[in-house]
Amino acid sequence: MSQSPDIAETHAKYVLTPWVAQGGLRAPVIDRGEGSFLIDEQGKRYFDLGSGLIAVNLGHGHPKVVAAIKAQADKIGYSAPGLFNRARAELAEELSKISPWKEGCRTFFTTAGAEANDDVVRLARNLTGRMKVLTAYRSFHGSTGTSVTLTGEDRRWGGEPGGYGVVRFFAPYTYRSPFYATTEKEECDRALDHLKRVLLHEDPKRVAALLIEPVVGSNGVITYPDGYLQGLRAICDEHGILLVFDEVMTGFGRTGAAFAAQRFGVTPDMMTFAKGVTSAYVPLGGIMIKESLAKTYDERALPSGHTYSGHPMSVACGLAAVRAYQEEGLFERGREIEGWLKEGLGKLASAHPLIGEVRGVGAFFAIELVKDRTSREPLVPWHGPGPGVMKTFFAELRARGVFTFGKFNVAMIAPPLTCKKAELDTALTAVDEALSVLTKSL
Ligand SMILES: Cc1ncc(COP(=O)(O)O)c(C=O)c1O
Repeated sequence: MSQSPDIAETHAKYVLTPWVAQGGLRAPVIDRGEGSFLIDEQGKRYFDLGSGLIAVNLGHGHPKVVAAIKAQADKIGYSAPGLFNRARAELAEELSKISPWKEGCRTFFTTAGAEANDDVVRLARNLTGRMKVLTAYRSFHGSTGTSVTLTGEDRRWGGEPGGYGVVRFFAPYTYRSPFYATTEKEECDRALDHLKRVLLHEDPKRVAALLIEPVVGSNGVITYPDGYLQGLRAICDEHGILLVFDEVMTGFGRTGAAFAAQRFGVTPDMMTFAKGVTSAYVPLGGIMIKESLAKTYDERALPSGHTYSGHPMSVACGLAAVRAYQEEGLFERGREIEGWLKEGLGKLASAHPLIGEVRGVGAFFAIELVKDRTSREPLVPWHGPGPGVMKTFFAELRARGVFTFGKFNVAMIAPPLTCKKAELDTALTAVDEALSVLTKSL
């Protein structure tokens, strides 16, 4: 193991890190992982409270998944997507079995979530003969050509003008209601009414798809009021619009079910996924397409393809990961973790006026920090100049052996599905202490 003290400097000098200004960047040099912990080159351990980027659902170094990657590397590293592959077939079959569709589904594999969202838009246009796509503000769908245009926040701006035909709407966010609502029911009704107005002015017959994260992910872990996703389903049905769930973060047990579609009892027409499918050990994404739509392509050529579609290394890893989730009951484990997080974060909210709201579902939570609970003024402004004092919070967490990430005034609390309660409790104690230091520093 390299202990070179210069490696952080070498990293900063030669590697471009996503989304941030590069000057003065410093981070631990992570050498290995064990269960819920990242371990740096100096041997310091960090509880992975954000599961990587809400991706390492199985924790680090799951033995069966690691063994599957090694075994595949020994057999063959790559063969063309046009040649059949056992793990690819078996993984797609498993995905069909765990999908929300009784009729089953077929899967088109990609390398990442962004690519899956690019392709799902192309498929939706191809399937419906319509052009427009609706997405929500305060969403993230990736940073490639089309997906960056689908994205409804500042990470889109650098990619503009981007693609064409994307129309955005406001989705519910009860804590900071875009509709001046004071109850969940009002928020739901007004958000659906707003969407109907948007559609009226766009001509619903020109809309191919409505694509949405069933729980808003990196934009603050916002869960929707009861009835909202059901309302979207009804509106899409009325107008022949395809409902697409971006399950890149919510999929593979994060919400306490295989997919958020099942947790909330709303069935889309297509779903995109990535991250948790391999517990992020190897890049893999894809689109699950319900059988009645997928069979269109029995007669018509599929209008997309990639060198890495169903890459043998990725699908071997994905197959082992999906089996591990099933064998170890991990699709449901988020429900147990949800109880721990509600209790632990609830206590923190009682102790720290800085916490404006705790929200989430399954093992997918966030805390939103405010200057003042009554005015709800964000601790650092959304789309302001940067993380500001939130840097102190994350630095204090790291100093205490906990790593997570956030966006503006929101911090993610989303441990691996394999975490132990005692480990999580220790991490929440670090959150408690970091919040105290932050409060004193203000
Ligand atoms: C909801 C959602 N969709 C899409 C993406 C893009 O996925 P990827 O980074 O694998 O391209 C992300 C990434 O964080 C995401 O959170």
